[in-house]
Amino acid sequence: MRTFRIAPSILSADFARLGEEVKNVVAAGADIVHFDVMDNHYVPNMTIGPLVCEAIRPHTSAPIDVHLMVTPVDALAASFARAGADIITFHPEASHHIDRTLGLIRDAGCKAGLVFNPATPLSFLDHVMDKVDMILLMSVNPGFGGQKFIPQTLNKVREARRRIDEYTAQHGGEIWLEVDGGIKVDNIAEVAAAGADTFVAGSAIFGQPDYKAVIDAMRAELARVG
Ligand code: DX5
Ligand code: ZN
Repeated sequence: MRTFRIAPSILSADFARLGEEVKNVVAAGADIVHFDVMDNHYVPNMTIGPLVCEAIRPHTSAPIDVHLMVTPVDALAASFARAGADIITFHPEASHHIDRTLGLIRDAGCKAGLVFNPATPLSFLDHVMDKVDMILLMSVNPGFGGQKFIPQTLNKVREARRRIDEYTAQHGGEIWLEVDGGIKVDNIAEVAAAGADTFVAGSAIFGQPDYKAVIDAMRAELARVG
């Protein structure tokens, strides 16, 4: 069976009890903590910064996956690396120097990745495949939790999977393919079948009282994909 990872987005958690929420969701079977950073500039919403990452870091040993929806990117990426992030992804349109930003994230000891909005072409990957550890495809327009999955994303997942397999067959290494937005128990299998291995889910998990029941149901769906 392929390796699948479930990454609950704490955007839909109770921010007044964030440490406890993180502990609970990891105890419920989460593999990764997805941490959405919005600046009211790149996206029309505002969330949490490096101080909050630093505050939750002692509450879990699960990797913290920082999704930067901000511009400019570089200084914040460095701050998140210092704050204990394990993975840092950013939107290529938000950086003037994509290659440099990827390099500085890796130099800071984190995995680096690019995030693609629904209409952003994958061609941003053409010259940097050797510098990415993660490709994150948005299946909603970024800025808010609880939106509806955009079905066209499935074609993009297949295309990204093809690029990853072709690259790793020649050069080795590992590149994770994460999908973010509108993922639920009833569509996770379809997204996995298209080639994703890492699944962000915010409202689907934190919107239910029993996180373990949702994560178990997601894993049961993933097991059908094999
Ligand atoms: C949206 C964020 C997502 C969001 C997903 O801009 O990047 O991570 O929290 O939330 P759901 O799973 O509710 O679509
Ligand atoms: Zn996200």
